[in-house]
Amino acid sequence: MEKLRVAIVGVTGIVGQEFVHALEGHPWFAVTQIAASERSAGKTYAEALSSDPSGIVAWDGSGRIPGYVAGMRIRSIDGLDPSELELVFSAVESGAARDIETRLAADVPVISTSSAYRYEDDVPILIPGINDDHADLLDAQSRNRGWKGWVAPLPNCTTTGLAITLKPLHDSHGARRVVMTSMQALSGAGRSPGVSAMNITDNIVPYIPKEEKKVRIETRKILGTLRDGRIEEADIRVSCTCTRVPVLDGHTESVLVGTDREIDAEAAKRAYGEYGRAVSTAGLPSAPADYFAVHDDPMRPQPRIEREVGDGMTTTIGRIEEDDLLGHGVKYVLFSHNKKMGSAKGAVLLAEMLHKKGKV
Ligand SMILES: NC(=O)c1ccc[n+]([C@@H]2O[C@H](COP(=O)([O-])OP(=O)(O)OC[C@H]3O[C@@H](n4cnc5c(N)ncnc54)[C@H](OP(=O)(O)O)[C@@H]3O)[C@@H](O)[C@H]2O)c1
Repeated sequence: MEKLRVAIVGVTGIVGQEFVHALEGHPWFAVTQIAASERSAGKTYAEALSSDPSGIVAWDGSGRIPGYVAGMRIRSIDGLDPSELELVFSAVESGAARDIETRLAADVPVISTSSAYRYEDDVPILIPGINDDHADLLDAQSRNRGWKGWVAPLPNCTTTGLAITLKPLHDSHGARRVVMTSMQALSGAGRSPGVSAMNITDNIVPYIPKEEKKVRIETRKILGTLRDGRIEEADIRVSCTCTRVPVLDGHTESVLVGTDREIDAEAAKRAYGEYGRAVSTAGLPSAPADYFAVHDDPMRPQPRIEREVGDGMTTTIGRIEEDDLLGHGVKYVLFSHNKKMGSAKGAVLLAEMLHKKGKV
């Protein structure tokens, strides 16, 4: 099979670098164009990451910069050639993303990690394995806007773990009310502006701008129903507190869920088991062997351990206990890798799902 030609936009950033990893040797997709800001345009990828005069290489991944991309020249957005592409992966901050993704989607499908388009009525927020059927809205989006392509955003990386773990409980027991506190990794803040070491060392930062509203809105949309060409939001209310903790990669979230129907820990574990065995992503190149890892050991999940599981694509759940504070319900702790399932590799998995559906 001839590989589809793809571009990575924002290729020098934290998520962009993770895309470089996730697409190395990919069986279906070949990276043929890369782009970043005017600061990096014109340089090779290796030069752009080594532009610090002290010789520091801004490569976050393990090992060396992958050979397939090291010598590739970074383009400006204007320098991209959409006529030579089947798909764009976009990983730029949302202010810049709005204009960039609008221009590119006129010609080619765009999968985005930014929030620029997430809240538009004709834009689904997709998590492969959770709401694949919402992808049908992409056709309407292209028609509405007169585009050849579309924009398919992932959720905020904090919503990802929450929506993934709520879905089986929502389907089986009617999840209605959620109280969540997140303990989010430093890498989730990106390089620019990033998090200052002075603020985070020996500390917890109790506020992440705009994060909580994103989680509340996105969860309702993702768990909603696509009907008559629009998404009816799920009847689920979320209260959350999002914090930044001194962990490098991977978000941990403490969750209390109130359900319509009686539920206990064993019923919740059964729901995860049944959902995971039938999940739609099975067999896709970037899908983990286990969509969920559910632990009885009360010391799990822990970021240092879980971030390696399923190459960051498995969502880990532990500490499941019945809790009747909200009526029927359970509480649990989840771990979700913000740079893998929560952004770049999750976006590649989404591309695989959309390719299988014939949309890419
Ligand atoms: N970090 C995470 O875990 C995570 C998870 C989920 C979603 N996200 C989202 O993913 C996006 C990228 O996040 P990040 O953490 O990777 O950010 P980042 O480390 O700050 O990287 C930003 C990238 O965008 C490029 N860029 C900035 N302005 C540009 C412009 N005007 N035109 C073209 N390229 C431009 C930068 O290029 P230069 O190097 O040339 O400046 C860089 O490659 C954000 O929307 C973020 O909210 C991040």
